[in-house]
Amino acid sequence: MMPGSIDETAAGLLAQGYVAQRELATAAFLALRLQRPLFLEGEPGTGKTEIAKSLSALLGKPLVRLQCYEGLDLAGAAYEWNYARQMLEIKADAGLKAEDLFAPRFLIPRALLRALQSPSVLLIDELDRADEPFEAFLLEVLSEYQITIPELGVIRAAEPPVVVITSNRTREIHDAVKRRCLYHWVDFPDAKRELEILRLRVPGAPEALAKQIVLFIQGLRKLDLYKLPGVAETIEWSRALLELNALELDPLTVQSTLGVLLKYQDDIAKVQGSEAARLLAQLRSELG
Ligand SMILES: Nc1ncnc2c1ncn2[C@@H]1O[C@H](COP(=O)(O)OP(=O)(O)O)[C@@H](O)[C@H]1O
Ligand SMILES: [Mg+2]
Repeated sequence: MMPGSIDETAAGLLAQGYVAQRELATAAFLALRLQRPLFLEGEPGTGKTEIAKSLSALLGKPLVRLQCYEGLDLAGAAYEWNYARQMLEIKADAGLKAEDLFAPRFLIPRALLRALQSPSVLLIDELDRADEPFEAFLLEVLSEYQITIPELGVIRAAEPPVVVITSNRTREIHDAVKRRCLYHWVDFPDAKRELEILRLRVPGAPEALAKQIVLFIQGLRKLDLYKLPGVAETIEWSRALLELNALELDPLTVQSTLGVLLKYQDDIAKVQGSEAARLLAQLRSELG
């Protein structure tokens, strides 16, 4: 279903289990209406990948995912010629002409091409992991929803895919890419929204515990840590605490589960002990 307003977009995402901030719902709504890619930048674990999945479910269009990595090239992202099959056919039919070998049946479509071939939500995930030159490949796809294959011609989408690009901002993405997109910075949620996410994603968590978890994590995010915990960590931690049958946060439980939240020893060392105790005391007084 194509949402007809910002409210409908937010409600539709919520129905898929995604809590969208007003600004994000607006950006998503406009991206859909204007048929422009949505470019999402932000810390890891803030729901960038998840919104593409939720949009796919909401719109009823399959998700085509391109996970970016160092060394990703056209062959990995868009298409490849099936050399093995070409060789076989040459052996079988000596009369085969060169142009016969570059027919669609010899083409192996990868994510970008597949997304143009049938209606879909195209997720170009963690674009900052790909090498900079790769971004140039994307320009034609993002602005024209087409790919030019030298041996074959232009392949154009009958229905432009809904495109979501994400970046964890380990480097800047080129202006040429950003210019074609609607941009939104995905921030950590505030306490109210994070509690809402937690209720949706970990429905079994006792209310009192959920509130403490959220406040503790919100407190952690104010510290000077190498890597701040994202929403993914909030959810993981809650699940871990449920497994331990914890009813509320106490110093020992926090101490023994910090590794679910923080993945760097320096961060753990910083929080362990007095800092954790201070955060616990603070949230106790906040919750009254
Ligand atoms: N706004 C949100 N609403 C619902 N769940 C969320 C939200 N943000 C994050 N999550 C949860 O956190 C997890 C991590 O989010 P993800 O999209 O993978 O982060 P990112 O791609 O930004 O690193 C998701 O699996 C999802 O369960
Ligand atoms: Mg992601």
